[in-house]
Amino acid sequence: MSTTVYVPRDSSALSVGADEVAQAIASTAAAHGNDIRLVRNGSRGLFWLEPMVEVATPAGRIAYGPVSPADVPGLFDAGFLRGGPHGLLLGPTDEIPYLKKQERLTFARVGITDPLSLSDYEAHGGWKGLRNALGMQGADVVEALIQSGLRGRGGAAFPAGIKWRTVLGAKAEQKYVVCNADEGDSGTFSDRMIMEGDPFVLIEGMTIAALAVGADRGYVYLRSEYPDAERTFNAAIALARAAGYLGDSILGSGHAFELELRRGAGAYICGEETAMLESLEGKRGMVRFKPPLPAIEGLFGKPTVINNVITFASVPIILDKGARYYADYGMGRSRGTLPFQLAGNVKRGGLVERAFGMTLRELLYDYGGGSASGRPIRAVQVGGPLGAYLPESQFDLPLDYEAFAAKGAMIGHGGVVVFDDTVDMAKMARYAMEFCAIESCGKCTPCRIGSTRGVEVIDRVRNGESRDANVELLRDLCDTMLHGSLCALGGMTPFPVLSAIDHFPEDFGVPAQTAKAA
Ligand SMILES: Cc1cc2nc3c(=O)[nH]c(=O)nc-3n(C[C@H](O)[C@H](O)[C@H](O)COP(=O)(O)O)c2cc1C
Ligand code: SF4
Repeated sequence: MSTTVYVPRDSSALSVGADEVAQAIASTAAAHGNDIRLVRNGSRGLFWLEPMVEVATPAGRIAYGPVSPADVPGLFDAGFLRGGPHGLLLGPTDEIPYLKKQERLTFARVGITDPLSLSDYEAHGGWKGLRNALGMQGADVVEALIQSGLRGRGGAAFPAGIKWRTVLGAKAEQKYVVCNADEGDSGTFSDRMIMEGDPFVLIEGMTIAALAVGADRGYVYLRSEYPDAERTFNAAIALARAAGYLGDSILGSGHAFELELRRGAGAYICGEETAMLESLEGKRGMVRFKPPLPAIEGLFGKPTVINNVITFASVPIILDKGARYYADYGMGRSRGTLPFQLAGNVKRGGLVERAFGMTLRELLYDYGGGSASGRPIRAVQVGGPLGAYLPESQFDLPLDYEAFAAKGAMIGHGGVVVFDDTVDMAKMARYAMEFCAIESCGKCTPCRIGSTRGVEVIDRVRNGESRDANVELLRDLCDTMLHGSLCALGGMTPFPVLSAIDHFPEDFGVPAQTAKAA
């Protein structure tokens, strides 16, 4: 009888030799006369254990990792095809504490199924949400989304159902659904993991959006540095189309939906939704003035639903299990779950999907295991390069949109980058300003010029030139950027800069009073 062996195809695993491990397993099995079925699954998101190999046994899936090609003969000798003991044995996959304590709704299938098997997708609950949506009025689908409390997972956390309702209500011959897969935030990879590990869930979520608002064309704008995601997602589109889940008449319903992937232009600002639309239209990624909102005049001037990958990928389970089921997770106005991404100087980096409300400390220590260097964690940046730096005194903050906003911080796309006590926070503040200067689209003055002046002022502070006066000037500049910028790139760069100076004034060589003065 054939034994199923899983070796991930996710880029995180490929980057540490998963293909070579898969080849070694196939050739050793052939040499031993073992009949195996090799499945290239997505990653379970336990990056320090990649390549993590799993074997299907009568007692469930058993994991080994991190496996190198040189380990493979020893694994066969140890009887790993029966879950035999070996130095790399991790035990039943579902019992690994990092996974066992998670609440995987959006990532329910990632790492479990074959990402490009339609039958595996269906066997694990796939297409149920779409089938339900096909039997509903668009307005009822939108209402379910509103009731679920799902908010945009790309950054601004705007209620997804309200956006869809605006597009549904807009009168137009043509409407579009656009997925933002530019994933530019530092330390983030959940969009990529979905597209490589469970691409049909994104196709299903976008198709439900199209049915709900009356759109018949969709685009996925993909980060240019994601070649594996591009290959997997294009293959998934072709399979879904051939099986009737996309095309002229979705599952014979008479509703059409065509989906295409477009490679991004490779600039952080192209993740901002209006710059993304410009880029999709073949122009340079410059931010547009709002209003009009993209929901009214979006792609090619037509009403457009724009959501992040994780937002769309969370829709099928809502339409399958009901708004109430999803809304039962979370706290306050942050409903459901978020796939947090742990990166930087952390021992156990990876993906942790949990309901909102867990504390940052739990994420950093219970899951992350503290810093990779073994030194104390001094600061974390949550929510990408425009997120505030949080000191240890704020690690008990619950991961909730409002709790973070109250501290001048944000959860954004759920990226968490960890720094130990060797970090120079004045250098990080300079980095934030420099990042803004490099990535600015140049449309407005506070961002285009302010960020360059900001780098110069921080340099003067770091060099000890009239420190107090220059800190005051820096605060003034941040205030102008905050209130005068056209979009959040210039408007939020002050958050990492000011949080660094407020929480870590000693790194700027200024007393705490000066730091908090303004
Ligand atoms: C500078 C900048 C970069 C952004 N980059 C991304 C990105 O890479 N991916 C993303 O989904 N949203 C990004 N956003 C947020 C989008 O503008 C938009 O709010 C989001 O795609 C809407 O989807 P959601 O409601 O599902 O979050 C960015 C915003 C700004 C200001
Ligand atoms: S804030 Fe920066 S990125 Fe945004 S529109 Fe202004 S110049 Fe462009």
